Amino acid sequence: MWKKWFGKSSIRSNEKILNSQIDRARIPEHIAIIMDGNGRWAQKKGMPRTYGHSAGVEALRQIVRTASDIQVKILTVYAFSTENWKRPKEEVNFLMKLFSDFLDSEIDELDKNCVQIRFIGKIEELSSRLQSKIEKARTRTMKNQGLVLNLAVNYGGRAELKRAVQIIAQEVQSGKLYPEEIDEKTIQNCLYTADLPDPDLLIRPGGDFRISNFLLWQLAYTEFWSTSVHWPDFTPGHFIQAIVEFQQRERRFGGLKRRKDTDNIK
Ligand code: FPP
Repeated sequence: MWKKWFGKSSIRSNEKILNSQIDRARIPEHIAIIMDGNGRWAQKKGMPRTYGHSAGVEALRQIVRTASDIQVKILTVYAFSTENWKRPKEEVNFLMKLFSDFLDSEIDELDKNCVQIRFIGKIEELSSRLQSKIEKARTRTMKNQGLVLNLAVNYGGRAELKRAVQIIAQEVQSGKLYPEEIDEKTIQNCLYTADLPDPDLLIRPGGDFRISNFLLWQLAYTEFWSTSVHWPDFTPGHFIQAIVEFQQRERRFGGLKRRKDTDNIK
């Protein structure tokens, strides 16, 4: 298992201590990651930005494997946003080739380890070659029962919401739905992530504190964890640290902090 993706265990000895602090019974079900900082990481080394993206694939491999090892159910990673087309053509082309090569080189290993690969975003706007690889990877792994690896490619939260509004408007126009019947479930059902729970934890490396048009609806009550470490330097140790800290937080979902029985509730 996971042979090609580094020997016996994804968790190295200095990470074992942190690993022992994880409460295995409360692993976040769905973790989302904004894989930021590839370009700055490469430039700091005097290398082109694309070098950072290649190194980012290696970091992704490690995190997928760790997530699978500790039985995270869903991992959603932001690989390319609807705004990333504004980057120089060479960088965009490089990224598209990287996604394509990733599918070619990793599909066997992912499939063998029961990973289910999914995609969210405007896949229909990608090259037909990439689209057909995406479709092949999706159908080949769709019955796998392990980690769901959700790759956000040409994804934008606003575009996703616009699409949802259009679907709902068409249903209203055709008489299948009355406007007063629209509730949050109606909207949820029209998102790319319709059948998935919202992320419990959002991890952002790279030092910024922004959502950057990622999962705008789904992140409403997600816990946010950020680090200044750039994505290529992000290790399973950082991932485990984020989970340990997540487990120490109290999620209230807009409610009140849990009180002791003796507290006088007014
Ligand atoms: C953001 O860093 C990263 C991206 C736009 C690309 C993410 C892609 C990878 C990590 C490659 C692996 C992905 C797959 C699915 C194979 P940035 O370029 O904005 O970095 P910067 O903020 O330092 O400029």
